Formats: sequence, structure tokens, C-alpha cells
Amino acid sequence: QSLKIGLVPADGIGREVIPAARAAIEALGSDIPKPEFVDLLAGFELFTRTGTALPDETVEALKECDCALFGSVSSPSKRVTGYSSPIVALRKKLDLYANIRPVVSVAPNPNDKPSVDLIVVRENTECLYVKQEEIKSTESGREARAIRLITERASARIGRMAFELARARPRKHLTIIHKSNVLSVTDGLFRETVRAIPKQNPGRYDDVTIAEQLVDSAVYRLFREPQIYDVMVAPNLYGDIISDAAAALVGSLGLVPSINAGDSFVMGEPVHGSAPDIAGKNIANPIASIRSAALMLRHLGYGAPADRLDKAVDQVIREGQVLTPDLGGKATTQEALDAVLRKL
Ligand code: NAI
Ligand code: MG
Repeated sequence: QSLKIGLVPADGIGREVIPAARAAIEALGSDIPKPEFVDLLAGFELFTRTGTALPDETVEALKECDCALFGSVSSPSKRVTGYSSPIVALRKKLDLYANIRPVVSVAPNPNDKPSVDLIVVRENTECLYVKQEEIKSTESGREARAIRLITERASARIGRMAFELARARPRKHLTIIHKSNVLSVTDGLFRETVRAIPKQNPGRYDDVTIAEQLVDSAVYRLFREPQIYDVMVAPNLYGDIISDAAAALVGSLGLVPSINAGDSFVMGEPVHGSAPDIAGKNIANPIASIRSAALMLRHLGYGAPADRLDKAVDQVIREGQVLTPDLGGKATTQEALDAVLRKL
């Protein structure tokens, strides 16, 4: 028995942190089925060389894998003809409809509770990220529009995922993030659909308390009193923004992992991007990717080895001896990885 893991480092620091995650998985030894890694191509750099950001072979090969790890892509902010982000496309092609992003601070003392311990559950397939944009010239200048798609089907399945996560956690508290005071039709549908889930599953979510918060004040409260949040569920764009903001609370984007999950596939992915400012310098923090590997393994049912990875990382952070520059240290990516491997 083996565990076939697709590796898509893609661009920038993805190429430095995905190999680190691979080494951490290898260090788990016989705790998991023998990993078999499949190296796959995607990204903006690949596009500039070959004209393709996401080759069909990569998608087909991923379908043959048990799971995957994705690094990060350097998507340009300006429109480039023929280019479209491979990660956004992959989430759609593999129907990875949930982006699950736990943000947890490491308590100074192993017995203390972390001051931030929340999960952002982000819808991953629609909202403004359907990328149906158009621009036209008018008498008063150019005018651009974008479609924001919210469906009952996608809202219901992300809502169920969020309720399931909430009921499995000690605090069992779910906050629905929206802006339906302004966008009463789209966000209204999201809110209403998520709210209706307990009624459709009588008894199952009785223990889950439900709150809701407008997205702007949710960010405000996230900074002032992050401990009020347990599980937050949000449409795609709000979820993207909230999880980057939450990352600031725990010190660095370089710490925050995620998985893209569907009903039949899971792909780990650090929340951060390709970090062009530090790419190629061997100083990127590998922890977000190692934690993404742990999340991926836990999602597949390998809870104990996932815990081992998380504990090793927590010890390294807590001891504070071997930290990359984003956390105020001087360690290289390799040194930070080695410190985690020693704990394992
Ligand atoms: P970014 O996440 O790449 O970087 C933001 C800041 O955090 C930078 O100062 C960076 O050095 C730092 N940082 C990020 N990850 C780090 C790590 N592991 N260790 C140490 N420091 C880290 O976001 P930015 O700069 O807005 O975007 C850069 C590129 O990444 C863009 O082309 C963007 O499109 C892309 N991007 C890709 C994502 C993905 O692949 N899912 C997600 C977000 C951005
Ligand atoms: Mg983001």
C-alpha cells in the first residue's frame, strides 16, 4: 500500500517550501503508507516559457493521486492574454469546493490555550472568482463589470462542511460572514442557505451555536477580540481576505496552512503567495507548507501522524531558537526544516 502525493510547487517560494513539506512527510516513516511523490508542473513561469499555466497532463496526473500539495503562483495583477491562474482553475477542475484555513497561535506554554484558535471555511468555486469580467468604453470613460455568482448548491455544501467542522470542535460555534445589509440578493442567499442547514439535518447540529457578522466588522473584531471566533464560514472573496488578515494575528503568513477539499480529493496549500520579495533567497518559512501537509493527512484520516507534524512545528516555534526572518529569526528555509525534522 502506498500514498500517491502529487507535488505542484509552481512559482516563487513554492519551489522552496513544497520540497520542505515533502521531507517532513518522508520523515513520518511507517506512520503512513509509503509515500510516492509525483512532481507536476504549473504556474506563471511555466506559462511564460510554454504558453500554458496548467497543462492537461498535470490535471490528469492529479486525478490519479490520493492527494496533493500545491505551492503558490505568481499571478500578475495586470491582465495577460491567454493566462489564467492555475490554482483557481484546479480548484474548479477537481471540484475542491472548500478552502479550510485554521489559524492557531502557539501558546507560550504547552499547557496554555492558544489566544487565536479559529478556522476560516471559505467557499472555493464561485463568488467574484468566477472571473466573468468585462470592460467597455463609454462616453465618460471605461466601465468594468464583474459577475458575482452565489448558488444555493455551493452555499449549502460549504455550509454543511462548516457545520461538520464546528460540531467536531470543543466550542462548537459557527459565525456566518456576509454583507447582506448591502448585497441582500447574493449574500442574502448565502446567509439564508447556511442558516437553513440545521433544519435540514434535525438533531445533528443542536450543539452548534450560530452567530453572524458583517464582513467589515468581522475584520475589526478579528483584530480586537479574535477569541470570539471558532469556525467562520464565508463566500470566496471575504474568506480570502479574512484568512490573510487572521494570519497577521499569529505572526506571519508563513505559518498558516490550508486545504482545498472536495468530496473525493484534497490538496494542501499554504495560504501565502509566491512572495517575489524573498523568492530564491532560501529564507521562506516552510511551516505553512508542513502544516498544510499535516492538514491534508488529517483529512485523509491519518490523524496521529498529522498531530506529530503539528507538535514538531509547535515545539520549534515555542523554543524560538531556529526561526526564519518573517518570525524575527535568522534561519534559512533548510535550517527551519531541519529543526522540525529533529523534533520528528
Ligand atoms: P504573498 O503571500 O506572496 O506575500 C506577502 C508578504 O508575506 C510578503 O512580504 C512575503 O515575503 C511574506 N511571506 C509570504 N509567505 C511567506 C513565507 N512562507 N515565509 C516568509 N515570508 C512570507 O502575497 P503578495 O505579495 O500579495 O503576492 C505575491 C504573488 O503571489 C502574487 O503574484 C499573487 O498573485 C500570488 N498569490 C498566490 C496565491 C496562491 O498561489 N494561492 C495566494 C496569494 C497570492
Ligand atoms: Mg489570499
